[in-house]
Amino acid sequence: MKITYYGQSCFGIEMSGKHLVTDPFVTPNELAAHIDLLSIKADYILVSHGHQDHIHDLEALAKHTGATVVSSWEICTWAGTKGIEKVHPMNTGGKWKFDFGTVMCVTAQHSSSFPDGTYAGNPMGFVVWNDRKCFYFAGDTALTMDMKLIPMLCPPLSCALLPIGDNFTMDVNQAIIASDFIECKEIIGCHYDTFGFIKIDKEAAIKAFSAKDKNLRLVDIGSSIEF
Ligand code: NI
Ligand code: MN
Repeated sequence: MKITYYGQSCFGIEMSGKHLVTDPFVTPNELAAHIDLLSIKADYILVSHGHQDHIHDLEALAKHTGATVVSSWEICTWAGTKGIEKVHPMNTGGKWKFDFGTVMCVTAQHSSSFPDGTYAGNPMGFVVWNDRKCFYFAGDTALTMDMKLIPMLCPPLSCALLPIGDNFTMDVNQAIIASDFIECKEIIGCHYDTFGFIKIDKEAAIKAFSAKDKNLRLVDIGSSIEF
């Protein structure tokens, strides 16, 4: 499983020969100015909620790639009105077996509306697995006790993609507790540094995780790691 970071909460994940992309927000992100949105391969686009910093490039990427959008009923319906043809609506608690593996939608404690203010359904995270690997993409969320359900319901996690920027989501210390709840020591941080409210001390964050015998990876935008 290869994971590439495109900034904010946007990752590209290669799994079972398919390309998954999370929360496409690239072109407005100054930190990702060197990334060409339309060079990103996508067979499926997983969208956690309707906020601008998660869907800004959804329409462009979905139309360019022909990818299937996997998200809430409300976001999939909205995508349909934008002319995106392939959608798979889901909701929290549900799972579905796709050709690359299984996706389960899990609770995220956040809000979800479109940039024009209309309702975008419940925010969600995703746990995704095939017969060899499993990852958790948390979306935007507070720390929740519901995270304890993930190891009860899903295969052991290879890694987890957690927001650590504070202000809108968990901070580093809450993400450390989350990693206990989900029973995963390999964490990839996201939702930090993109704008002023979520700037973090990266070195301190890595040290805080390693002090608890956990590994926080802060991947350079455009770089990849293997799990
Ligand atoms: Ni948000
Ligand atoms: Mn966000």
